[in-house]
Amino acid sequence: MNILVIGTGYVGTTTALVFAEMGWKVTGLDTDQQKLNQLQKGILYFHEPGLKELLIKHNNSGQLQFTSNKKEAIQKSDVIFICVGTPSRPDGSADLSYVKQVAEDVAYHMNGYKLVVNKSTVPVGTQEKVTEWISESNRHAHPYDVASNPEFLREGKALEDSLHPDRIIIGTKSDRAAKLLQQLYSSMTCEIIETTPRTAELIKYASNAFLATKISYMNELSRLSDRLDVDIREVAKGMGLDLRIGSRFLQAGIGYGGSCFPKDVSALQQTAEENGMKLQILEQVVNVNKSQYLYMLDKAKKRLGDFAGKKAAVLGLAFKPDTDDIREAPSLRLIQDLLGQQATVHLYDPIAKLPAGFTHDHLTVASMAEDVFKEADAVFICTEWTMFQELDWKSMHPQMKQPNLFDGRNMLDAKTMKSFGYYYEGIGYK
Ligand code: UDX
Repeated sequence: MNILVIGTGYVGTTTALVFAEMGWKVTGLDTDQQKLNQLQKGILYFHEPGLKELLIKHNNSGQLQFTSNKKEAIQKSDVIFICVGTPSRPDGSADLSYVKQVAEDVAYHMNGYKLVVNKSTVPVGTQEKVTEWISESNRHAHPYDVASNPEFLREGKALEDSLHPDRIIIGTKSDRAAKLLQQLYSSMTCEIIETTPRTAELIKYASNAFLATKISYMNELSRLSDRLDVDIREVAKGMGLDLRIGSRFLQAGIGYGGSCFPKDVSALQQTAEENGMKLQILEQVVNVNKSQYLYMLDKAKKRLGDFAGKKAAVLGLAFKPDTDDIREAPSLRLIQDLLGQQATVHLYDPIAKLPAGFTHDHLTVASMAEDVFKEADAVFICTEWTMFQELDWKSMHPQMKQPNLFDGRNMLDAKTMKSFGYYYEGIGYK
């Protein structure tokens, strides 16, 4: 079976590499020649542990190739995965123009039966739209099916999640498509669920929105925990041992970010609105998330008073560790607010970079974590990079003007930090 992956972004590249690793012949198609040149040389334009090694391996094994030749790529493929972007429009709905373009390209070039599979996160009903779009441009009336097969991979853990998924969801009403996808995933040991395309599409949004809900719920509870003098981490542990709840995604912090949770929650809300209803719980999930970084800033304000003229050290820019992705990162909002209140900000992240044009006279980026501590009035931890745990916190303390430590990810041990002389506050933990 020849597989074509259209879109060599984060999801597309990972998908292509994982299918190659599973032993299938894979082609990655993109319109961006520069990106393709880099991939052919074994260079990834994003940071993701383990992927580069796999890219080099399969560039050499012959299992994988990259091209911008649509006609040739579509014609020699049996199964075509759509992995293009579906960015948010200003109203929160998903922009499907790239998906539509792919549908039209496939229809224009197809030379026989094709199974088109949507992996991009798309609103409920998109499988039907793609089916229509192909049908409208299918000049020779070639047979085809369109299925939904959402991805659930996390940044920083993409390889692990793709090679060992918790489940595989196949949304199709066609036996032929279901059989092909079952064959494609036959080496996977997890449960494979066959369902309707609409159900598959909703499962993806419902899963991400539920995980975001878990996080916002714990974040709101962290504020109560602070008032009750209770450790939210212990609450999470006690809750998580209940198998009905589960221990994951109960970590309180300064809020979720990234390319998925904010976008998918908003797209699901939009879908509900288009269908004449409001998802009330999700409204509050978003509200809690938007204000969670402010909760940490408030803590600092109570301690420091006015931020004007104070020096803030910010550790971590990426929305989570092991990625250089800064989309919707709460750190950025925190930095903007600090600068807006006339603080000086010294930032360090091991790999993530500020967006182009994000400059300010009072903002500097350090090349070493240790550098941000000098003369600082407060340190804010925004991303739980392991290297921050390994810093020599004891020796850093005397370099600060005031040893205030606000741990937005509850990653350090409060007792130890206090024993070093820090004033320490986490989120629902001190
Ligand atoms: C998410 C989903 O997990 C994945 O299945 C989907 O396909 C894409 O979206 P991702 O955004 O890469 O993946 O990262 P994830 O690990 O889910 O973290 C998202 C955000 O939630 C991060 O900002 C993280 O810091 C935050 N988070 C996560 C918490 O604040 N607390 C937690 O307990 C877990």
